[in-house]
Amino acid sequence: MITKFVKIDSKKDLSGQLSEAAEIIKNGGLVAFPTETVYGLGASGLDPDASKKIYLAKGRPSDNPLIIHVSAPEEAEKYCYVNDMFYKLANAFMPGPITVILKKKSIVPDTVTGGLNTVAVRCPSDPVARELIKLSGVPIAAPSANTSGKPSPTCAEHVLNDMDGKIDMIIDGGSCKIGLESTIVKITDENVSLLRPGGITLEMLERVCGTISVDKAVREKLADNERPLAPGMKYKHYAPKAQVYLIFDDNSTDFQNRVAEFINAKININPLTGAMCYTELCKQLNGKYIKDLGKKNDKEEHAKRLFAYLREFDETPVTEIYAVTEDESGIGLAVRNRMIKASGYNIIEV
Ligand code: TXA
Ligand code: MG
Repeated sequence: MITKFVKIDSKKDLSGQLSEAAEIIKNGGLVAFPTETVYGLGASGLDPDASKKIYLAKGRPSDNPLIIHVSAPEEAEKYCYVNDMFYKLANAFMPGPITVILKKKSIVPDTVTGGLNTVAVRCPSDPVARELIKLSGVPIAAPSANTSGKPSPTCAEHVLNDMDGKIDMIIDGGSCKIGLESTIVKITDENVSLLRPGGITLEMLERVCGTISVDKAVREKLADNERPLAPGMKYKHYAPKAQVYLIFDDNSTDFQNRVAEFINAKININPLTGAMCYTELCKQLNGKYIKDLGKKNDKEEHAKRLFAYLREFDETPVTEIYAVTEDESGIGLAVRNRMIKASGYNIIEV
């Protein structure tokens, strides 16, 4: 299959530029498209055969359900049983980087939900994504547009690397604003639990919904007999070929000097040692493979750059990588969660 690559000019009318993509979706094909979080791999969310193609192109296990994307929060009512809590969240955060899980209606095919009786619904804020959903006239089922196991794509080139020849079209809308996948919450009655942290932070959710329970899989490795609430959280994810060792910044006064000394010693022994940390610490490192995540405490920037760096490391000969993550406040919880997975839970103390 030849994959068409379409670059969007955001200053021009979007509907003309997206009409062919919408036709592909309507006819059961696959289109990768930008959202504010990461790129999605979209197909009609009401067409079981189209959603099967998504699993095939990604090499994704069929028990890992897809998110369906709608152009307005009210649209969710067609696909799941909404309640007051849904509208509380919708009024506060939609359109935006949040996905809500509710009991599904029968119109949603089982192939989309991996056989679960719930469905994940998200209304993205990215104008290209919203216009594409509107023009397609169906909800768009879309996981992140990466090969299963790789980091989610944050620009169209990442998608091209993974999906060229496997899907009908890639829409290039530039780099994603947030760079990490959406926050996922599950609503059961009026209770809200956090399944995957993202751009809508735990603090933001608590301000609107009160107490939130955080699924254990967000912070910890589950035992073999434990199941996360979001099936996808159990899969190995994001890890580059080289082993990542993760260091938590404890905010102590000598942290930066201590860690710089530690990583430099590693680089001295093995010049194929990589590092990924904030600017101030990077400046103290002597290695060749240093990735600067952005200024200390600019966690939004860290979120934006992380996945690209994990991919770039695989194009270098590094054999081990030392990564530093800051505290859990704000989007820090999401950054930390993705880094923990990239390290395969290899957290070290210095
Ligand atoms: O930002 C995002 O959410 C991106 C963009 C494209 O919207 N999409 C995304 O999709 O990250 P994906 O498939 O890579 O991750 C969806 C996660 C998986 O961990 C999956 O197991 C979980 O959502 N999920 C989907 N439906 C679910 C359900 N009914 N119950 C529990 N978890 C569900
Ligand atoms: Mg994914």
